[in-house]
Amino acid sequence: MRNIGNDESSSRELYLDLLINILTNMIYGDPSFRPKHIGPFQSNLRSEGRDWPTVAHTMAGLQRLQNVRALAQRVIDEGIPGDFIETGVWRGGCCILMRGILAANAIKDRKVYAVDSFAGLPSPKPLEFPHDDGLNLHLYPELSVSLEQVKENFSRYGLLDEQVVFVKGLFQHTLPSLEAGPFALIRLDGDLYESTYLSLESLYPKLSLGGFVIVDDYGGVPACQAAVSDYRTLMGIDVPIQEIDWTGVWWQKPRVPFPESE
Ligand SMILES: C[S@@+](CC[C@H](N)C(=O)[O-])C[C@H]1O[C@@H](n2cnc3c(N)ncnc32)[C@H](O)[C@@H]1O
Repeated sequence: MRNIGNDESSSRELYLDLLINILTNMIYGDPSFRPKHIGPFQSNLRSEGRDWPTVAHTMAGLQRLQNVRALAQRVIDEGIPGDFIETGVWRGGCCILMRGILAANAIKDRKVYAVDSFAGLPSPKPLEFPHDDGLNLHLYPELSVSLEQVKENFSRYGLLDEQVVFVKGLFQHTLPSLEAGPFALIRLDGDLYESTYLSLESLYPKLSLGGFVIVDDYGGVPACQAAVSDYRTLMGIDVPIQEIDWTGVWWQKPRVPFPESE
């Protein structure tokens, strides 16, 4: 964690540092319930986003939250038009950070879209999406967080207002008909091939040129990586993928549009 004791950072940077440390609960350090890492808080696991916190509002870890902050700030500083959206919000932490970044920049004309079933992951459909065969994340009740709870989490930070839009339902039902966009930042965190592919298919065309895609599970879930790879191949997207940490990646939509596929 960055030591800010003698830093001459602006109040914006100090607020966002503190917000990230609270969202990940690096402060009080709650235990983890992830099957691989059940047990007391371990600072290295939380900071790398490798555990599933019992209390903290995100499981994304410090580097992936700093990535959201850096790319959102670039979008703002470079004037790339559009809203921010996350598909797969769980307790809301990444979206709370997005809203906090808007607040810290006094931005009133961008929104944050939080898209989730608010009831956990769907069961895999191996016939339609073979890469998802055997994934059992739908069996964890802890991954199901209600819309009311996520709103309550936003309100605890003073960040629940009309600049946050909640979209409730399975992606297959909500995303294709979502009347929203353009987006400047799209963050995918739905783990499955199905969830990742559907998100890209519906949202990437609405991403502004120069905007960013972040994929949380690229390194950690092979099915997610396959979805990204399939979509990029289909659309002829060849801009390099940038690594954030052991699992998260991002890329920037080229400012010059790539040729339409025939
Ligand atoms: C790993 S959690 C997201 C973690 C969160 N971004 C964070 O910062 O901690 C995955 C979320 O995706 C949602 N999800 C996955 N696939 C979905 C789908 N097809 N439709 C709706 N929600 C989905 C789940 O309900 C769950 O809240």
